[in-house]
Amino acid sequence: MYRSRPKGNLDKDMLNFLSSMNDDLQILHYDILGSEAHVIMLHDIGILTLHETKKILVALEQIRHKPALLTTGDVEDIHESIESLIIQQTGVDIGGKIQIGRSRNDQVILDIRMKVRDDINEICEKIITLITSLLKKADENIDTIMPMYTHLRQAQIGTFSHFALSYADSLFRDLDRLYITYVRINQSPLGAGAIGGSRIKLNRQKTARLLGFKGIVRNSIDATSSRDTIIEYTMDLTIIMLTLSRMTEDFIIWSTDEFGYLDISDEYSSSSSAMPHKKNPDPLELLRAKAGTVSGNLFTMITIIKAIPSGYSRDLQEIKTSLWQASATTTQALKIMNYVVKSLIINKERMQQASGNSYAISFDLAELLAIKNGMSFRTAHKVMGLLVRKAISNNRQPLRMLREEDIREVLESLGSKLSAEEVLKDIKETAPQKSISSRQSLGSPNPMQEQTMVKLSRGRLSAYSKRIAKRKALVDEALKNLTRMVNNCSKKA
Ligand code: ARG
Repeated sequence: MYRSRPKGNLDKDMLNFLSSMNDDLQILHYDILGSEAHVIMLHDIGILTLHETKKILVALEQIRHKPALLTTGDVEDIHESIESLIIQQTGVDIGGKIQIGRSRNDQVILDIRMKVRDDINEICEKIITLITSLLKKADENIDTIMPMYTHLRQAQIGTFSHFALSYADSLFRDLDRLYITYVRINQSPLGAGAIGGSRIKLNRQKTARLLGFKGIVRNSIDATSSRDTIIEYTMDLTIIMLTLSRMTEDFIIWSTDEFGYLDISDEYSSSSSAMPHKKNPDPLELLRAKAGTVSGNLFTMITIIKAIPSGYSRDLQEIKTSLWQASATTTQALKIMNYVVKSLIINKERMQQASGNSYAISFDLAELLAIKNGMSFRTAHKVMGLLVRKAISNNRQPLRMLREEDIREVLESLGSKLSAEEVLKDIKETAPQKSISSRQSLGSPNPMQEQTMVKLSRGRLSAYSKRIAKRKALVDEALKNLTRMVNNCSKKA
């Protein structure tokens, strides 16, 4: 349809190669909305008569209700497909006017922005649901003591609640990132034309308003060439997937036979075709892999966009495949992770047992020795290090089983004046529970602090929920209003 200068038809294989029809089905809905707003605005500024406007709007409505009418074979993309169907239904003298003041270049990025805007809201809601489930687990497990790990070696005593809250805090930042990206996405590029605007005084603010955007991308080159906000969005998704991949890794490790801290519900576990005893965490492994898929999508897009000159180039079409995949994968991953979290079975006894015998308590003891006795932390570190060494050589006995003589020997070897009896008493009294309840610093797994963190997080969560619901309502309201205008216009004589 666009072949005015090139002679004849595009070669079939070439058309196949050029076509973005497969990816475009995801923006069909948005392309229709954008076209409705454009046509109403053209009528408003006196470019289209009421009759022409009505004819085009009726044709657009028909496509909305019967997308099967669209040809997919001999067109380059959804924009061409829709325009050619409108021309077919209304004649070229009317339908051929729909593209006045518009190009596929501002059209495609308009559609992308509208879809990403909806995707952001949906993903934000999914994050909120997941955080809600994590906060519930946190609340239920404030007293669930477990070792915390660095280098995947027991480090300090903590609680399961503290882990759940840490995932929630990461997800809050992920949520906030998307929340802010939305502001940059929610601007209309429509009316920028091919690259340099139009001699027609298009009312860009009006189309923006009709489509529920907050403002426009003003510069026509910027509006049609830039994809930075789309990259930013995919970066946000990649970071979400990284957060989820950390959670999956923790859950996979903690649910091994060796750890046994967690159990993943049977409903979300797979088995083996060969080994009858197996219960594998396949959903978590796939989630971990999909973090790779989404970061791959991001890098595909960055690599495509790198060094494209200003102004639309067809390279830009190629990012849609990755963009849609990144959105769909992240949405699904958040949903699956929520199922997993909600159904996690927490083996409190096993965690308690691992903590009770853990040398991780030696950090608390080193701090206690240092503060209580005015000792340098370096010396206290030495005392505890040697005591742990001793306990390990005594058949890996827990520190509380050390004998007074063992302690005296260590203290003497360091020339310390501390009483071995006193040190043994401190060791015996510093059980894991006491370890966490005496943790004073802000943000540590002290049960009181965790209660506060759960409460604060719930407050934040409800604030985000309200703001996102409001955003959605603003878009819905604008689009409902647009539909009303379309219907009114279609009914007019
Ligand atoms: N199918 C194209 C895309 O997805 C639409 C824009 C085409 N514009 C052009 N001047 N060839 O990006």
